[in-house]
Amino acid sequence: MTRLDGKTALITGAARGIGLAFAQAYVREGAQVAIADIDMARARQAADDLGAAAIAVEMDITDQASIDRAVAETVQHFGQIDILINNAALFTAAPITEITRADYARVFDINVGGTLFTLQAVAKHMITRGGGGKIINMASQAGRRGEPLVAVYCATKAAVISLTQSAGLNLIAHGINVNAISPGVVDGEHWDGVDAFFAKHENKAPGQKKKEVGEAVPYGRMGTAEDLTGMAVFLASDDADYIVAQTYNVDGGQWMS
Ligand SMILES: NC(=O)c1ccc[n+]([C@@H]2O[C@H](COP(=O)([O-])OP(=O)(O)OC[C@H]3O[C@@H](n4cnc5c(N)ncnc54)[C@H](O)[C@@H]3O)[C@@H](O)[C@H]2O)c1
Repeated sequence: MTRLDGKTALITGAARGIGLAFAQAYVREGAQVAIADIDMARARQAADDLGAAAIAVEMDITDQASIDRAVAETVQHFGQIDILINNAALFTAAPITEITRADYARVFDINVGGTLFTLQAVAKHMITRGGGGKIINMASQAGRRGEPLVAVYCATKAAVISLTQSAGLNLIAHGINVNAISPGVVDGEHWDGVDAFFAKHENKAPGQKKKEVGEAVPYGRMGTAEDLTGMAVFLASDDADYIVAQTYNVDGGQWMS
């Protein structure tokens, strides 16, 4: 008996990193998954590796037609969507005096607009088929407090926590639980980019920022994508039916709330 037997999940940004680890964990727990991403080469590879329980779906969460197509394609293939993980996001960083309107608009469009309108499209599907479902948004410790060089990304993740609360309170009337996971620092390609940014802006050697943030985690190291899968499985399971509008820190002790 596995915890997600017979369930279907749509996971955005699942071609790599944390989203891919979620897809792998969900398949191990008996679910079928749609790996939705703009990077179709890696999405197809990931789906092939997972076998018949997974499909790759082309999806750009900044494009409403693409969101609607991806939801329809997933429903057509698997018959339903029981779980959504709003995982796709972009990181950006700059000193306040160098933030551009274009970068602000691009990152809000993906991290906040993409989360909201993907959530909306899947919630409509869940309501139409009689209600019930689980929606998990990816927040971040960056949404809990500002950081000097990361204003826009931090603001988008604070918005994700707020959207989780409003959507959670609205959609529980339809039996849909909306909650969020707030990771700390998770090693992977995303953090390779963050490390490169700080190497440039703080004159650090490559790898130095990662080493520093890892040592600062009370647990003693950076997280891995696999460190987050337990919470993602739990929040998607029946054990989480009474949990509504919450954001859970899974960060090795970084943030307390
Ligand atoms: N890595 C960390 O330290 C960390 C910490 C806190 C929160 N998070 C959050 O966890 C989530 C996953 O992070 P990650 O480290 O795996 O990121 P990642 O950058 O490795 O992966 C993001 C994925 O999203 C896809 N994507 C980008 N734009 C898209 C779009 N418009 N439509 C669809 N897909 C798109 C990318 O192709 C990629 O596959 C993100 O929401 C991130 O903000 C990550």
